[in-house]
Amino acid sequence: MTGGQPSKDEQLEALKQQLVHAQRMAALGELVGTTTHEFNNVLMTILNYAKLGLRNKDEPTRDKAFEKILAASQRAEKITNSVLGLARNRKEEFAPTDVTAIIQESLVLLEREMQKYRVAVRCEFAEVPPVRAIGNQIQQVLLNLMTNARQAMPNGGELVLRITHDSAASAVDITVRDSGSGIPREQLSKIFDRFYTTKQGPDASGKGGTGVGLSTCKEIIDAHQGRIRVQSTVGQGTAFIICLPVFQEQASAGPAVPLPKLGVPTENRQMS
Ligand SMILES: Nc1ncnc2c1ncn2[C@@H]1O[C@H](COP(=O)(O)OP(=O)(O)OP(=O)(O)O)[C@@H](O)[C@H]1O
Ligand SMILES: [Mg+2]
Repeated sequence: MTGGQPSKDEQLEALKQQLVHAQRMAALGELVGTTTHEFNNVLMTILNYAKLGLRNKDEPTRDKAFEKILAASQRAEKITNSVLGLARNRKEEFAPTDVTAIIQESLVLLEREMQKYRVAVRCEFAEVPPVRAIGNQIQQVLLNLMTNARQAMPNGGELVLRITHDSAASAVDITVRDSGSGIPREQLSKIFDRFYTTKQGPDASGKGGTGVGLSTCKEIIDAHQGRIRVQSTVGQGTAFIICLPVFQEQASAGPAVPLPKLGVPTENRQMS
């Protein structure tokens, strides 16, 4: 301890942390809008079937009403759990993390929005080991990438979410791929820059346009000793691939072994 002024590096680090936090708050704010709406839909279903059950005394109708009420309540439960996952003060610590569960939670939150914009979601989840991660932050990354993907497909399309295990690298790869506009080659090197955006402010869902989404993603993935890279073809779509180290029991106490560096995290090529 020197007890003096924080160094420039320390100040920068503190500012970065604050930005990640501010971005989480903004993302949470956006989600409150989406989920409140969604919650209202669920409540309407419950109300209407409760009334139906009360009006009709016959057993088949009542059974049906109860089944619908049960399904709607289960959905409501999923929604609150997903939002709480993001909002509650989960320990901001690296821990063994189930990425499949985090993707599923993120999907619950964006499901309605995807339907609204006619985006079909395809999940390709392999069995993978837990990764070394801070769950909240990975959820924030996924929400950013999925929102970007949706915004790149204003007329609908397909969102593919894939999880694979790279056992040779002792890593888990998460791919978020859209069939949207794609990114021109000359823009690819800029998209991870803070405040770089091609969007004209928030869209109809109140999202987008500050240019902090991807820079926050990169910040978070770097802090996880992971990698994030992009492949894009104009007119065909874009894929972001995140690579996170598998949780290693013995390495958990010390610094994680960084994944090999790949250099510039961008590629412009045909997507496989
Ligand atoms: N999936 C994608 N398809 C096409 N372009 C993308 C995609 N993801 C990002 N981009 C491009 O990268 C830019 C930067 O993305 P980023 O998420 O950092 O900011 P933003 O989405 O514009 O604003 P914010 O995320 O802060 O609301 C976008 O404006 C867009 O031009
Ligand atoms: Mg964004």
